[in-house]
Amino acid sequence: MASWYERNILPKLLCCACGAPAIQAQRRRVAPRAEGEVLELGIGGGLNLAYYDPAKAKRVTGVDPSPELRAIAEQAPRPDGLVVDIQAGEAERLPFADASFDTVLCTFTLCSVRSPTAVLAEARRVLRPDGRFLFCEHGLSPDAEVSRWQRRLEPLWKRMAGGCHLTRPVARAVEAAGFALDEVEQRYMPKTPRPLGWCEWGVARPASRLGHEAGGRIDRARGADRHEEIGSGQRVLDGVHEERNFAEPDHMRPRPAVSPAGGADRIGRQRTEVWPGRLTMMTAGDGQLAVHVDHPSAAGLLVQVVDVLGAEEELAAARR
Ligand SMILES: C[S@@+](CC[C@H](N)C(=O)[O-])C[C@H]1O[C@@H](n2cnc3c(N)ncnc32)[C@H](O)[C@@H]1O
Repeated sequence: MASWYERNILPKLLCCACGAPAIQAQRRRVAPRAEGEVLELGIGGGLNLAYYDPAKAKRVTGVDPSPELRAIAEQAPRPDGLVVDIQAGEAERLPFADASFDTVLCTFTLCSVRSPTAVLAEARRVLRPDGRFLFCEHGLSPDAEVSRWQRRLEPLWKRMAGGCHLTRPVARAVEAAGFALDEVEQRYMPKTPRPLGWCEWGVARPASRLGHEAGGRIDRARGADRHEEIGSGQRVLDGVHEERNFAEPDHMRPRPAVSPAGGADRIGRQRTEVWPGRLTMMTAGDGQLAVHVDHPSAAGLLVQVVDVLGAEEELAAARR
């Protein structure tokens, strides 16, 4: 049962904070790109509705658990001709069939849900195989000093701001959930305190099913946390079976190592070129490990990848 504060104050506070000019500017970068049948996760007060293009978005279905925010969203401004359907629900358990949306859009919601892993898995499930996941989220800053403040502030902030977390990774989590990132941009939003202002947005598409499952198997074999692990394993495996997934956009390619020990990439992973230009290991500060193979005939390199992950049998099973 929501408290008096959650029912009477928080919805207005959220709409006000989420309507700040810096955040509205971010919405303009993402929402107009939605096409076809669109699902918006955690639609809140409907602040994205004004930015959808009705010529592209056939219908926008929004889900949100808050009745107060849904009521505000029902009244939110929107362009003429945009069909909107707002439903009660939690993004961890979406009441929609597999592959039923062309676009899933998620803005400033992953910070507040109970389980970003479950939400991203659901987003992937309900997306058509050629669909697009559009995201724009604030999250964990790559700067040590800022992230220290984020950790300090988070316990209090969560209580004030409807469960909003400051330390959740964004693009890394999207990738780990079985999406291939087509575009990612990141920066501090202007005129926003830095612990609240680190923002990552972009476009992702579901990576191939086989890769996803195989990545999961490797993950279990290592006894690691599936959530962060599968992203790159899956990219490697996708490369074998699907050329399209193997060709990464430029910003996702491993950068040349800064030193023999490697360097940090744009989403905070330390990269070490084990075999320069071919095999790169990526580790994040919290002990996650991933491997990236950059070779057109990746099948020949899989053995090495599997050796690194210590899961030969699992991978062989996945490929059969
Ligand atoms: C900071 S607000 C952002 C609202 C909206 N996405 C926007 O861009 O303005 C976070 C939203 O997440 C919603 N939310 C919280 N838990 C959720 C869940 N499990 N599933 C879906 N939405 C959730 C909240 O009700 C709230 O509307």
